[in-house]
Amino acid sequence: AKIPATVIVIFGAAGDLTWRKLMPALYNLYLGKRMPDRFMMLGVAHTDISLDDFQRHLREGIDQFSRSGKAKPDDWDDFKKHLSYQKGDFNDDATYTGLKQQIDKIEKDWGEPVNRVYYMAVPPAFFESIAVRVGKNGLCKNKQLARIVVEKPFGHDIESARHLNNLLHELFDESQIYRIDHYLGKETVQNILAFRFANAMFEPIWNRNYIDHVQITVAEQIGIENRGNYYETAGALRDMIQNHLLQLLCLVAMEPTASFKADEIRNKKVDVLNALRKITPEQVHEYAVRGQYGEGWVEGKHVKGYRQEQDVSKTSNVDTFAAVKFFIDNWRWQDVPFYLRSGKRMAETISVITIQFKQVPHRSFPVESTENWQPNKLVLNIQPHMGIQLRFQAKIPGVKMLLNPVDMVFDYVDSYPAGSPEAYETLLLDIFEGDTTLFMRSDQVEAAWNVLMPILDTWQANTSPNFPNYAAGTYGPEDAEALIAKDGHNWMVIPLETENNGR
Ligand code: BG6
Repeated sequence: AKIPATVIVIFGAAGDLTWRKLMPALYNLYLGKRMPDRFMMLGVAHTDISLDDFQRHLREGIDQFSRSGKAKPDDWDDFKKHLSYQKGDFNDDATYTGLKQQIDKIEKDWGEPVNRVYYMAVPPAFFESIAVRVGKNGLCKNKQLARIVVEKPFGHDIESARHLNNLLHELFDESQIYRIDHYLGKETVQNILAFRFANAMFEPIWNRNYIDHVQITVAEQIGIENRGNYYETAGALRDMIQNHLLQLLCLVAMEPTASFKADEIRNKKVDVLNALRKITPEQVHEYAVRGQYGEGWVEGKHVKGYRQEQDVSKTSNVDTFAAVKFFIDNWRWQDVPFYLRSGKRMAETISVITIQFKQVPHRSFPVESTENWQPNKLVLNIQPHMGIQLRFQAKIPGVKMLLNPVDMVFDYVDSYPAGSPEAYETLLLDIFEGDTTLFMRSDQVEAAWNVLMPILDTWQANTSPNFPNYAAGTYGPEDAEALIAKDGHNWMVIPLETENNGR
């Protein structure tokens, strides 16, 4: 269906997210003729900046970060007509009455009902203030046509997340609230459901009878960049596991749906979160490991330790690495461990899900032939390489019966050379179209906090972790190896090996 005329108000229009992600995404949607025929972006921020300078600034971001490369002059001249700016204080009602007048005027000029999208691309300290003022100044009177977008972090713990949910629910219907988890917009993440439920052959073995364990690794080489202020209040468990990794776990573990309706999918995901086995405070040391990077080497460059980063306390106990072992108490997954880990300043940047199957019941081959024996593995490569590989045993050509593991590979670059949209393109379009499937519902957010609270509380109570406990450029602390080794496994990062890897 045609998307109605749309005004998108971006609070925090002079900030990093708008610059790096939102504007390049809007621009690419525009180039791809995906934007509504009539649309306007109203940027709001405290910065004193002229419209010309604001547009120039956005263009630099697009030139640098857009997947379509530098903006062409004609395209840009056309596009920039849709970009306007208003200086405003987020805590002042006048900002909102001003916006309302502008939008009402646009609606009148265009002569058709206008979709209103309010995007909070601001630090969480402003969420409440903006949401309340958008609500009470009548900026979202027509519930069908007004939406609010909340960036992460959604709360700092279960209490603050509940508080924010209650507040939003007083002002908006749940269907108007779009809580972003940008991992859900990634192509390879969306493909998990296609892979599982559009094929007949995987689902019958997708359970405790055939799967030994599941690993989810999201490793980043970058440190905390210039986000010390935020990161000091967060840490890896809050920043990554609470949202992105638990969402990946849900997609791997959820039951099939009868339809592709937003709430049905979200129901199945929240069922998984609610079935995660509670980790008691006494068990935290057995199930969870935290780490913090010290100085070290990343790609041949010497880098600082976390405590030396800008805006970070010299005695900070914030985790820059976290690993957790989960169990899901239901019929499908009983006793199958799910190992999750994520960290900054790791040896490489890679997001990958590995599903390891059980060993064969009996090895009928001579011992010497099976030295390289591996259980079957299915590897879902999320990024930077995008694809899926299935690892199985094969006979090495030769006169003897020798075996080794080989891969069957699906690589996005081979199969879809035209490339994929960025996560934010997909998500913005869904917001314009009113599709909430790829956004976090209130109960999902709270369920995810719930399961992590004992770990967060226990870590906070113990104020002398042995930090730093891993060197930058490694795979995290020793304890994370021990977490999985005591179950007889090891962490695996199996990057997609195809001809295209040299690209
Ligand atoms: C964000 C985190 O949500 O995700 C960042 O706050 C992290 O700390 C980023 O770097 C990773 O996203 P991506 O898309 O680069 O994997």
